[in-house]
Amino acid sequence: MKILAIETSCDETAAAIIEGNSSKNKVKILSNIVLSSLKLHAKTGGIIPETAAREQIKYILPVIENAFKKAKISISKNSAPDIDAISVTIGPGLIGSLLIGVETAKTLAFVWKKPIIPVNHLYGHIYANFIKQAKSKNIEFPAIVLVVSGGHTDLLLMKGHANIKWLGGTRDDAAGEAFDKTGRLLNLAYPGGPSIEKVAKKGNGKAYNFPRPLINSSDFDFSFSGLKTAVLREVKKIKRLDNKKVADLSASVQDAIIDVLIKKTLKATNKNHAKSILISGGVSANEKLVDQFKLAIKKNKLSISFFVPEKWLCTDNAAMIGAAAFFKGKKIPWQDIEVNPELYFN
Ligand code: KG4
Ligand code: ZN
Repeated sequence: MKILAIETSCDETAAAIIEGNSSKNKVKILSNIVLSSLKLHAKTGGIIPETAAREQIKYILPVIENAFKKAKISISKNSAPDIDAISVTIGPGLIGSLLIGVETAKTLAFVWKKPIIPVNHLYGHIYANFIKQAKSKNIEFPAIVLVVSGGHTDLLLMKGHANIKWLGGTRDDAAGEAFDKTGRLLNLAYPGGPSIEKVAKKGNGKAYNFPRPLINSSDFDFSFSGLKTAVLREVKKIKRLDNKKVADLSASVQDAIIDVLIKKTLKATNKNHAKSILISGGVSANEKLVDQFKLAIKKNKLSISFFVPEKWLCTDNAAMIGAAAFFKGKKIPWQDIEVNPELYFN
């Protein structure tokens, strides 16, 4: 089954062609094009929805055309291309951006007479883990999933493709948001996550003892908004914010976020006798987070398989939307598709 996947929920314009094989329980990427307007947003220190949408409307068709070209599937004028369905992100995200992907998918489905598979972006992140890497093991259920992105921090229990239960999530800022807001306080380039990771390598994570909110609470919730206030308090005390201090502050805030994410995920794993841990979303691109997860599993002598998507599949892309469509999606006629910017786990 070949699927054209489209993702435009935030600042990316992305299209991919994936091929799913039911008997092998496997998804292969035939092409995965991601165009980001990040550089434009770096100037303003954050995403301006209008700017993102204007870029997406310019690039959506060339990006889709490129995805077909890379996958070596012809799009001639006279016949529909050799695909079985079109999948597209319907939410959560920015309304203007989402509409560009959805309206494009709808038009192509109408013209080519193909079904549409609506996809929740958050499930897309989870399913980035199901795009097989050459030597990767099969994911065994039950699995605990940690989705850590710019907009979300959620823990889920996955017993199968049709059985995914939300356990808890952030009560305020997402982990990625905490990275981005701290980056802004420290005058680092947007987005804060990768910038903080880079400078933290030269810093001491024990230099500042930042709070680990809700680390020992009995639920599976998170809270990261207090962290930026704690960083701001420290920054105000400092007379000259030199490179060393920025590195120490970055390393300390990164360690605080990582500690909470790992402790809560392992707690959920133990409680639910999970066989696998899956992490996904932009923050899972953080190498220290991945290393610390592996270390914690080893230290605690847990017989658990740990999965993280390849780095280029952690951040927003369309291949993960195609994978979610293949494993979990339902084909619907184009007339029935609806955008939902507030979509959550259901
Ligand atoms: O999943 P994503 O691309 O978009 C959303 O769905 O939100 O995640 C973007 C978030 C941003 O907050 C960014 O700062 C964070 O992921 N991020 C990272 C790293 N790379 C991206 N955070 C920490 N370390 C990284 N290396
Ligand atoms: Zn995302």
